[in-house]
Order: sequence, then structure tokens, then C-alpha cells
Amino acid sequence: MTAKIIDGKAIAARIREEIKRKVDERVAKGLPRPGLATVLVGDNPASQTYVRMKQKACAEVGIESFGYHLPKDASQEEVEALVEQLNADPRVHGILVQLPLPKHLDEERVLSKISIEKDVDGFHPINIGRLAQKGREPLFVPCTPAGVMVLLKEAGVDLEGANAVVLGRSNIVGMPMALLLVRANSTVTICHSRTKDIPAHTRQADVVIAAVGRPRMVKADWIKPGAVVIDVGVNRVDDPTAKKGYRLVGDVDFDEVKEVAGAITPVPGGVGPMTIAMLLQNTLKAAELADKKRASQA
Ligand code: GUN
Repeated sequence: MTAKIIDGKAIAARIREEIKRKVDERVAKGLPRPGLATVLVGDNPASQTYVRMKQKACAEVGIESFGYHLPKDASQEEVEALVEQLNADPRVHGILVQLPLPKHLDEERVLSKISIEKDVDGFHPINIGRLAQKGREPLFVPCTPAGVMVLLKEAGVDLEGANAVVLGRSNIVGMPMALLLVRANSTVTICHSRTKDIPAHTRQADVVIAAVGRPRMVKADWIKPGAVVIDVGVNRVDDPTAKKGYRLVGDVDFDEVKEVAGAITPVPGGVGPMTIAMLLQNTLKAAELADKKRASQA
């Protein structure tokens, strides 16, 4: 059996088109154009690339982006002052502080400063806290896990009572992913670097989400036949035949796992495009929240 390939690129393109249509509609009605501020501290090449991709995606759907680049030795006070300034800027509906921040900065304090109504990454402790609690609704959900949930829905995966295994427990992906799956009534296991026998867990899983950052770690004999496998990993591996000298592979050994799984996401073209689509969606939502707030104050 060969797995159905879940085409994140196509699904994300559809979502982006819909966002563009909604942005055009708003602007035609005289409502403000949604605006996203990106904050990059330092010169981590991967972060620079991600921020550029996010700004380009904004431009394509008519969202205005405001790029801020602070030097790698920027102080805690400087970063927090910028966030405060963006909180107060009515043109800015969403604020994205690209992670990781340089080591000398206190990430939690920076993220806590972002107004929860502008927290389009969903990393503010209040948004994450609400995600973790029954009966509470976060204003925003972190983009990568939110994108995975859309992919699972589009692939027709029934999460109710399903055994889901999340590989990785990062603040950005693994942990919020597990929380979203619990909210969807799955039975969730989180595996991590200290887990004794990871394959023993994944072999029981109806759904496996890999977010560990280890190239091709998940093998065919880890997967129950017919299971759904979502690969969040983006790893550079040397490839002398490639123009750049490297290529991107996921955390899943795609070639062998696709022969066992029922459905699988490719890398690239799976989860990656969804992260950006969700960021655009959250920014539009932030602009809509700001409309409501203005209307209630008028
Ligand atoms: N670094 C890696 N992924 C992300 C993300 O989704 N948002 C931010 N802000 N930083 C990241």
C-alpha cells in the first residue's frame, strides 16, 4: 500500500486565496488593511529567511508588513520597548517576534509584553494557558500546530478517540500540538529525548506527529499500517548533487514510511506552507478583533 500524500502546498494556497479575498473585501469597505509587525533580533540566517518568507506571504494577500530588525546585542529593555511601541501602533494588528531570541534575552518576558489581541503566534502565556484549559478559548493558536490540525481535517482524519503520538515537546510545536489533539478528543502521548522506547509508542498510534528536528528518524517499522503521519521536521542534509550543497528532509523517512502509512505529508510541501497560511489567517483575525474593539468604543 502506498500512502495518500497530503498536499499542504495546495491546501495552503487555497487558504491564502481566501484570505486575500477577505482582505480585499475589507479594504473595499473602508476597513483598515491588516498589518503584521515582524521583530527579528540578531542575524540567525534561518530566522532571516523565515521572516522574509512571512513578509512576502503578507504582501501576496494584501497584508501590510512592518519589519523591525534589532542588532544581536539589543538589550531586554530595547526589545520590550519595541513591543510596547507596536502594541500602541494602530496600523499593527499582529506582532511576531521571531524565535529563538539571542541567549541573553528573556524570551518569556518579551512574549508576555505582546498584547494578547496582537499575539498572532499564540505564544503569550495567557493564550497558551487558555489552550491548556478545558472550556477556555485562546484568542490565537500557534501557527504550526494550527496548520497541522487543518491538514488532518482536510485529509478526513477522525481524531475522536484516536491514539495520537507527538514526537517532541517544544513550546512552538510539540506541546501546543498535544494540547490541540487533546481538545479534539484524541488520546495523546508525548514522546521526547528521555522516552524509553519511542517505536513501541508510535506503533500503537493512529496519528503520528513528528516534530523533533532529527533527519529521517521515523522509520517504516515504527508505524502501524494505515496510520496518518505528519512531518513537521525541516532538516538540512548535505547533498553534493544539489545546487546549494544541501537539501531539506523531514523527521520522517518519507520513502520507506509512505509504503506503510495511510496518509503522509511530504517535506517540503507539507506542514511548512501551512504555518505561514495560519499566520496570515491569525493576522486577519487580529484586524477583525481590532474592528470590533473600535466599534465598541465608538
Ligand atoms: N521560530 C520557529 N517557528 C516559529 C514560529 O512559528 N513563530 C516564531 N515567532 N518563531 C518561530
